Amino acid sequence: MRKTERRAVEAYEQTFGEGPETLTSAPGRVNLIGEHTDYNEGHVLPCAVERRVAVAIGRGGNELYSADFDERRPARGEREGSWADYPRGVAWALGEAGYGLGGYRAAFAGNVPPGSGLSSSAAIEAATALALDALFGIGTGRKELARLCMRAENAFVGVASGIMDQYASLLCEEGHALLVDCRTLEAEPVSLDLEGHGLTLLVCDTRVERKLGDTGFNDRQETTARAARTLGYKALRDASEQDLKRLSGEELRRARHVVNEQARVMEAVAALKREDFEGFGRLLYASHASLRDDYEVSIPELDTFVEAAQKTGALGARVTGAGWGGCAIAVVPSEKADALSEDTRRRYEERDFKEPALYRFAPAAGAEVVS
Ligand code: GLA
Repeated sequence: MRKTERRAVEAYEQTFGEGPETLTSAPGRVNLIGEHTDYNEGHVLPCAVERRVAVAIGRGGNELYSADFDERRPARGEREGSWADYPRGVAWALGEAGYGLGGYRAAFAGNVPPGSGLSSSAAIEAATALALDALFGIGTGRKELARLCMRAENAFVGVASGIMDQYASLLCEEGHALLVDCRTLEAEPVSLDLEGHGLTLLVCDTRVERKLGDTGFNDRQETTARAARTLGYKALRDASEQDLKRLSGEELRRARHVVNEQARVMEAVAALKREDFEGFGRLLYASHASLRDDYEVSIPELDTFVEAAQKTGALGARVTGAGWGGCAIAVVPSEKADALSEDTRRRYEERDFKEPALYRFAPAAGAEVVS
């Protein structure tokens, strides 16, 4: 049992005076490439990381307890702007889809840093969905659970995000990234043996926290949907470089990112399959430039890490997740990973940024019913 899972069980026992019936946990993720393509019905390539949210759950009652916030909230109710919105939203989405849930109580413990771009919200949603599914014997598949988690995020929490994070949390496999076609919702594991190739996935958490609902996220979703309508397509997934000539201004810049990023994901998967990590890395750098210049979701802290990566000889680096803060990733020769961490710390100090947190991650397992 992982430490977070043990903490969730202990929290349940202390709060409710008996043991839970079921225990699940679900991971956060980094996205390797394919940023802001999911809600444009394109492809994404995330992998799960070994940071998880665990849920200990039992039937009866109507209460949630978070060990991290040391806070009790009712299990049912309206959106209130707290961590409890995510499990509440999931229960709401399951109910709305016709899955009958009885009363329940649950305790949560996690180590996905919130607001960091590692999808702590999807981890809570996925762990809750899997826990409710197991507890009430719903027996719906993981893809359907992911879809309901996204519905919770869109219609209950109020962020117009795509399916990437929930898919990654529920469907990723250890040692693999996950190629997701966000139109057909097909998903395919892609082997990612960085260690075997002398490479390290280094993640820089800028510690600039944000809640997606407070960023320009919904604005980007609206602009790209509008650009698709201008071009006469259902989604920008269908647009080509040729089509971009028919757009201008902000719609052009946002759509150019999506069209080029979609092409980069497919190239990146081909590069990984032929073990061309240099080619893969170049696509990461190109993705970052596009997110910075065309999609305008980077911040100086993220750019500084990518600059440090370039200087240190990383094969590639980019912001991961929505942007406006959170994390960036680098694929770096393992012998240079320490140098990149040190150079990043030095640059952050020089520029008076917050002290970053640097993590080394290997592609981890998706959500699990532990017991
Ligand atoms: C957030 C959303 C995802 C995706 C990314 C950007 O993580 O939750 O659905 O849109 O941003 O790629």
